[in-house]
Amino acid sequence: MSSEIEKPAEIIKLSQNENAFGASPLALKAIEAHYRSVYRYPDPLHKELAHKIADKYNVTPGNVIVSAGSVALIDISIKTFVNMDENIITAEVTWVGFKIMAKINRIDCKLAKLVDNTIDLQNMLSLCDDRTKLVFIANPNNPTGTLVTHNDMKKFLQTIRPDIYVVIDEAYAEYITDSEYPDSFELQKEFPNLIIFRSFSKIYGLAGLRIGYAIAHPDIIGSLAQHKTPFSISSLAAVAASAALDDTEYIKKCAAVNAEEREILYAELRSMGLNATVPKGNFIFVEFDTPNENDKACELLKSEGILVRPLGPFGAERALRITVGRPEENRHLIRCLKKIA
Ligand SMILES: Cc1ncc(COP(=O)(O)O)c(C=O)c1O
Repeated sequence: MSSEIEKPAEIIKLSQNENAFGASPLALKAIEAHYRSVYRYPDPLHKELAHKIADKYNVTPGNVIVSAGSVALIDISIKTFVNMDENIITAEVTWVGFKIMAKINRIDCKLAKLVDNTIDLQNMLSLCDDRTKLVFIANPNNPTGTLVTHNDMKKFLQTIRPDIYVVIDEAYAEYITDSEYPDSFELQKEFPNLIIFRSFSKIYGLAGLRIGYAIAHPDIIGSLAQHKTPFSISSLAAVAASAALDDTEYIKKCAAVNAEEREILYAELRSMGLNATVPKGNFIFVEFDTPNENDKACELLKSEGILVRPLGPFGAERALRITVGRPEENRHLIRCLKKIA
């Protein structure tokens, strides 16, 4: 199909929920200041970064483990808590990382249903059996962009067996503006089986450096630490992450622009008659009637220089996910989508 819309000079990548504005400038400065030291081994405990994270959340460094991204945290958690004949639970349509790591570790992974594109916690509870060790809840859920609220999460934690570890993966927490988003640090005081994952791959803009962390009870952190590969976090990732935590103005600005653009994009999609779900993070879930229509939409956008994420591997073959980009990228996306709708 020939395009009447001028193609962008560069591919517009809206397929991996990265920060459209790039890495935290303070993180980049820190990398420049430290890159000559890469011949040295890093501190294997990343003490400075662990202290900084602990201070940020008013916990102790013993509550913190730093990892090579959330993917590594999933792997470590499974290796720590789940034996071969035991199982984990996540959702039918959710971030593919949980299912991939279960498969790599040859662990049975049960999938809870979603209702209105929101993870059904009642269904998740009904799947728990005496071999369930670990539950993964992405909140907001990727790719549907919906939230489990504070009250629902609390009820879930009150009901689930306390010997099952509950991971809340909050990779997009900094983008959330919804007041019903759980205060998981508060919940953790009451429920010591709760493990919180956070990532530097999203709003901090450090996806390529591979760094994230978990906050949990010191006993849990101690167990997880025994399964972590030594020196798996590079020195540059650690200094960049540490500097990014100080970049509060940048993070605030990125979150504010994202919230504004997210609303504009969502409203535009709906006004075109597209079936978009109310987004809470930095991405939008759009469902078509058939997988074929979805494939066509992805292909058309690709031909216009825009990459979005088809969601077959996430368990939603009729849907695609669009990352909220920079304003000019979003405008181009809207122009192109109008050709489909
Ligand atoms: C729910 C969720 N958690 C974590 C991540 C990021 O993982 P990592 O920290 O390994 O980059 C993603 C990335 O898409 C995600 O969607």
